[in-house]
Amino acid sequence: MLPLRPIRRVAVGQNAHAAMIRAIEAARPELELRGAVFTEITDADLGWADAYIGFKRPPQVTSMGTVRWVHSTGAGVDAWLLPDPLDGSILLTRTPESFGPRIAEWALSRALALVTRVVELAEAQQERRWASPEIGELRGARVLVVGTGDVGTAVGRAFAAMGCDVRGVSRTGGGDQSVFTHRCTVDRLAEVVGDADYIVITLPLTPETRHLFDARILSRCRGAVLMNAGRGAVLDEAAVPLALDAGWLRAAALDVFETEPLPAHSPLWRDPRVMVSPHVSGLTTIEGAVAGFLECLATLERGEMPRWVVDRTRGY
Ligand code: GLV
Repeated sequence: MLPLRPIRRVAVGQNAHAAMIRAIEAARPELELRGAVFTEITDADLGWADAYIGFKRPPQVTSMGTVRWVHSTGAGVDAWLLPDPLDGSILLTRTPESFGPRIAEWALSRALALVTRVVELAEAQQERRWASPEIGELRGARVLVVGTGDVGTAVGRAFAAMGCDVRGVSRTGGGDQSVFTHRCTVDRLAEVVGDADYIVITLPLTPETRHLFDARILSRCRGAVLMNAGRGAVLDEAAVPLALDAGWLRAAALDVFETEPLPAHSPLWRDPRVMVSPHVSGLTTIEGAVAGFLECLATLERGEMPRWVVDRTRGY
């Protein structure tokens, strides 16, 4: 499935298209480049391009035109595969940028903010109130990471460094044994969520993971803090208020949502038990996106498959 003709023309559909194009041009001046924010990419752009760089399919195009290679600037490629898979004749690669350490900091900061009562203390400070809420500690907490790939492993390592007992759940039941004290497959999720104080979802969205965390699984939690940095639709968002009311969950920290931006009418915005962040836990950088594209391009030009080709049967 290597693109047959050389890649000469590249369309970039990103907010930062101008900076990305400058960086690509500096490395590969012979390429022809054009860019726009992804909502302004047109059929004419894709009918011109050999390759397209972007996070998701431009909404107003009718086809991918002459594009033979799509390089996703996101690590998660669900937007290219669900619900309509990108034509199988088009090569799909994903950014190799390592989001694990940043997502680990996102998750750790949420957990630490909860145990050290950051929000309550900030509110008390506004009122000049010498409040003394009970301060807990993360050490000794049981953390379940669901998705033990690069990101989940980095998350697990960060919590392990804080003295937590970290366990992992994944499709294959694998995972780094130096990080995860126990590992199991997803079919055991209902059994293992009940032991966790913190659950961190780092799964990609695939047909198998859609609404994996539904009311049934949430009802097996026992007062856990649920964090989602994978994809919104891995969690049945509508079940979260119910899970909080029932005490299955103590709190939730959500960075990804079924619909983004999170609609103003969502009850999650105003629920004090929920920490909402706007899909910022693992942002692709311009340097990372460009380096990933250039690495894949160089590999293709050697007639080889890049390491970052998406396995369409797995969906990531
Ligand atoms: C961000 O969500 C990504 O998939 O990289």
